[in-house]
Amino acid sequence: MTVTVACRKAVIEDVDQIHQIIREYADKGIMLPRSQQTILSTIDTFVVAEAAGKVVGCGSLCQLGSDLVEIRSLGVLEEYKGHGIGSRLVGFLLEQAKRRGIPKVMALTYEVKFFERNGFHVVPKEIFPEKVWTDCIYCKKQHCCDEIAVLKRLD
Ligand SMILES: CC(C)(COP(=O)(O)OP(=O)(O)OC[C@H]1O[C@@H](n2cnc3c(N)ncnc32)[C@H](O)[C@@H]1OP(=O)(O)O)[C@@H](O)C(=O)NCCC(=O)NCCS
Repeated sequence: MTVTVACRKAVIEDVDQIHQIIREYADKGIMLPRSQQTILSTIDTFVVAEAAGKVVGCGSLCQLGSDLVEIRSLGVLEEYKGHGIGSRLVGFLLEQAKRRGIPKVMALTYEVKFFERNGFHVVPKEIFPEKVWTDCIYCKKQHCCDEIAVLKRLD
């Protein structure tokens, strides 16, 4: 299957489709859930990948500090995986960070190989105390987190 995909900033009309993608993975315990209200109120931070008018992937950039952003809620619909869409979304998010002059981009993930192929490297979670005070305090796995921290420097 050849998939023609375009990445763009998300708009309010994308909220439901973004919510569906995140819910698919949140239900499996591999992503933190986000309500439609939360997605709506942070829609400016989201980007989407669109194929034939359908949102098939999403991701967001959360500002953790003056020099650090986190890639969050990165997901590609199951049936569209393995076509480079996730890598396109990461590239688009990195462009956004670069344009804003942010030198460091991190993620917490189980998909280490995917991020390494996109230029990230594994780092100790403890170097991101900012992260703990934003999202982690709401996570059920707060005290037994098994996700891996990855970082890419843009400078
Ligand atoms: C991680 C995730 C976003 C990757 O999305 P994706 O669209 O499948 O990513 P890519 O296609 O760019 O890369 C995935 C694989 O396809 C391969 N690939 C890339 N471009 C390809 C192409 N044009 N044709 C065929 N295969 C391709 C890559 O080599 C890669 O190989 P791998 O299986 O060894 O990793 C997706 O797996 C996902 O949604 N996972 C669940 C949620 C999650 O864990 N998100 C990360 C949280 S931070």
